[in-house]
Amino acid sequence: MHSLLIPLLRILSDGKFHPGTHLAAQLSVSRATVCNVLKQAEPLGIHLHKVQGHGYQLPIAPNWLDAGQIQADLHGEARQIEMIVLNETRSTNTDLLNRHVTASPLVCLAAEYQTSGRGRRGKQWEATLGGSLTFSVRWISPLGIAALSGLSLAVGVAVRRALQRCGVEDARLKWPNDILWQDKKLAGILIEVQGESMGPAIVVIGIGINVQLPDDVRANIDQPVTDLHEITGHSIDRNHLLAEILNALYDILLEFAVNGLSRLRHEWSEWHAHNNQWLNITLADGKTINGIARGIQASGALLIELPDGQQLALHSGEVQRARRTDSVEVA
Ligand code: BTN
Repeated sequence: MHSLLIPLLRILSDGKFHPGTHLAAQLSVSRATVCNVLKQAEPLGIHLHKVQGHGYQLPIAPNWLDAGQIQADLHGEARQIEMIVLNETRSTNTDLLNRHVTASPLVCLAAEYQTSGRGRRGKQWEATLGGSLTFSVRWISPLGIAALSGLSLAVGVAVRRALQRCGVEDARLKWPNDILWQDKKLAGILIEVQGESMGPAIVVIGIGINVQLPDDVRANIDQPVTDLHEITGHSIDRNHLLAEILNALYDILLEFAVNGLSRLRHEWSEWHAHNNQWLNITLADGKTINGIARGIQASGALLIELPDGQQLALHSGEVQRARRTDSVEVA
């Protein structure tokens, strides 16, 4: 994507017609550059009107991210979070892991567009301009890496609480860290950590939420997906949602730093998409097991009741995939 595309679209977001010459003058480029750059909008799902003698118009403007608006929606202590919005970057997680962005102890970096957004297990994270919410939070944690094993579950609790505050009533948690709605993926969490095992650690919490994904993007995703538009039937204000997630996340990080998952695990289990349901689990070594999900441990391990009644605690590193299964033959 050309670096001037989003600046041009932001100017056009007032819904008025802008002559190509005016746009060119505003950005100190030629009219031909404006014309070529705006050709990139359509393939990204952004529809522009071009009318001879009037110029360009953007009839439906994306709900652009705005650092000032997000910061104004933060409550209490969460106002300490430094908010940065980029038009385009490779990956907000990679940026914050590289630490060049800012020295602030608690920072949120959101991007309108990621060229190499990363999902878990080396997968690419599919997102579109204006149709997704992609951001990362860097937390300098007093806890060592060893104490962070349940953090992704705690972050799931924060995201679910924020979604509920924004009118998404029935988002559920899939172990270890997906957010589902009616068994379809709504959001994902990717946590990356640098530091010593006994602390302190630099934790980067990356979150991607499907806001309104076009069909061709959904077709690239190898599992059932949903988005906020499909769930609520209307457009969600991404700035408000991001602020609500940061408000909830701030409380959760404070709680996690003191008590780990111990006080959060009941809330996690209450919203577990698969509690008391049969799961088919593929382990990291390729073996599969079937069992009933019976909550989580304070470490974040998933408790599975095997067909013979034994209980097994599974840590996320030991599991390749855990899927709901409808029926299992028990001997
Ligand atoms: C998953 O696979 O479910 C996790 C997806 C995490 C995606 C987010 S988008 C913002 C942040 N930057 C990245 O490159 N990945 C995370």
